[in-house]
Amino acid sequence: MCGIIAYTGNQNAAPILVAGLHRLEYRGYDSAGIALHSRGKLHVHRAAGKIAQLENKLPAKLSGKSGMGHTRWATHGEATDANAHPHTSQDGSIAIIHNGIIENAGMLRTRLEAEGTIFNSDTDSEVLAHLISKQSADTLIQSVQHVLTLIQGTYGLVVMDANRPGEIIAARNGSPVIIGLGNKEMFVTSDANAILNHTREVVHLDDGELAEINPKGFSIRTLDATEMVRSPITISSEFESQDKGKFPHFMLKEIHEQPEAVERTIKGRLDHRFDTAHLGGLNLSARELLDIRRVKILGCGSAYYAGISGANMIEQLARLPSSAEPAAEFRYRNPLIESDTLYIVVSQSGETFDTLAALREITRKGGRVLGINNVVGSTIAREVDGGIYMHAGAEISVASTKAFSCMLACFMLLALQLGRVRDLSPQQGKELMQAIEQLPSLIEEALTQENDIRSLAAEYCTAKSAFFIGRTNAYPVALEGAQKLKEVSYIHAEAYPASELKHGPLALIDPDTPTVVVLPDDNLLDKSLSSLQEIRARKGPVISITNANDPEIKRLSNAVIKTPRCHPLLFPLVMGVSLQLFAYYCAIAMGRDVDQPRNLAKSVTVE
Ligand code: F6R
Repeated sequence: MCGIIAYTGNQNAAPILVAGLHRLEYRGYDSAGIALHSRGKLHVHRAAGKIAQLENKLPAKLSGKSGMGHTRWATHGEATDANAHPHTSQDGSIAIIHNGIIENAGMLRTRLEAEGTIFNSDTDSEVLAHLISKQSADTLIQSVQHVLTLIQGTYGLVVMDANRPGEIIAARNGSPVIIGLGNKEMFVTSDANAILNHTREVVHLDDGELAEINPKGFSIRTLDATEMVRSPITISSEFESQDKGKFPHFMLKEIHEQPEAVERTIKGRLDHRFDTAHLGGLNLSARELLDIRRVKILGCGSAYYAGISGANMIEQLARLPSSAEPAAEFRYRNPLIESDTLYIVVSQSGETFDTLAALREITRKGGRVLGINNVVGSTIAREVDGGIYMHAGAEISVASTKAFSCMLACFMLLALQLGRVRDLSPQQGKELMQAIEQLPSLIEEALTQENDIRSLAAEYCTAKSAFFIGRTNAYPVALEGAQKLKEVSYIHAEAYPASELKHGPLALIDPDTPTVVVLPDDNLLDKSLSSLQEIRARKGPVISITNANDPEIKRLSNAVIKTPRCHPLLFPLVMGVSLQLFAYYCAIAMGRDVDQPRNLAKSVTVE
């Protein structure tokens, strides 16, 4: 959500910044801009729209060996040229790019305007540029430091001063800032993906820290001027690929990457000697695992839906009361934190603000928190007591696909390990391990339905509204199916537990409103078939996603997507894939911008 890139070194900064912005575009794509330091001045270029629009506006010749770039997801003020970052002070000497929200911007702006400052944008961020330019400290970092004590809110911030060539100040509070270390050149970014083609050596700033950066090095200090020493870490090569390969969109590529992504999640984590999973990063002994009395899972959006499924898996296999809750709501209800509850925060990016806030609330109250994360070294991954990395690889499409599946695979491994320290027998452990090992090939098999799903999508994509239903563990799959459809195709979609349909939503069933039914072959199949009857009796079209062979399904459905048979706890991973393809092809049929849907952005780092 908004992307930051900055460079200082000996190369021409403009192409580095523009290429970085392209790699950050999935983080926000309503406007973009760059500022370059050249001949004692900061030269700013901005444009509403995608990076390509900015590129069209850039002069053919751009010079400058340091600069900053930003891609925006609007919070305050529409997506216009004027609201795009960088923002500058009135005399043009200070330029800033900012991710986050300045909560007291209104008050600060009124004060600055009363002093005669003229604002050029509707953004909250612009106050930062004006305030910094009004400081009279000896160094830029001192000026920024002072201004940060005046503001309330969150920031990932980069500042440059026309009078200090090659110098960049970065600061962080609640929005990621990463320094990349090159050879006599330095980078700053909000997302390591943007600089991985230049360097893998990075340093993460923590909240409340600022950094002074020049081509030769960097220093870090806290807001109260305490010097900090931080060693760089090396980012693994997993996060490298950022091209679509043979696929037209990242979403389709990432759907197809799922067999190998899930394979990576599982790899090395099944212990055949003891018929259990072994998750080294949990930092919990078998005794501590045994002492757990309850499990609470927190996440946002698709991560929350994966959490619902994870809670089902853990409750079934470890017989521990388990539940999932949207992370954003959690901290506002003054939750009870118990020492024998295992809290799990799930987040692909590891930067989602609401999930991070829930983690901090639990930690403050003394709870133990595990993370299920994809991005190594992300804020959540660094702040949890232990965790499981998904190893899904970079997910660039805004709509999550492979990360969702890898989250489910992590939960399955955790459920197995928790189960085996309780009353799950070695034989049951062995059977589950065999089922888990089959997952990559089952997902592969589910993907072979692609052509049928494409035709089905072409038939149903004109629907104004759709329902998704499922029982127990099929319900989170329905939630995720509806989420995918609305995100990328903009078709209104609602998910319900199948049993809830008759308690209200049935009123909306009509011949123009299809219902997608997630129908695993389990002991609830007959009950689910009753829901199909109820829909058909109201002339509602039914699309069944199923791995059951009951002839009634065909009789009661307008269309059937078959998925391979699998362990009853693992069907969400397999059936989820068919629903992702359905959403993708509906969006394609409607001509949507699949990888960058309207109003959205990857990694929601604001509240
Ligand atoms: C849906 C989607 C979002 C994210 C949510 C949490 O396709 O991508 O709902 O799942 O914003 O993001 P992470 O997992 O990064 O915390």
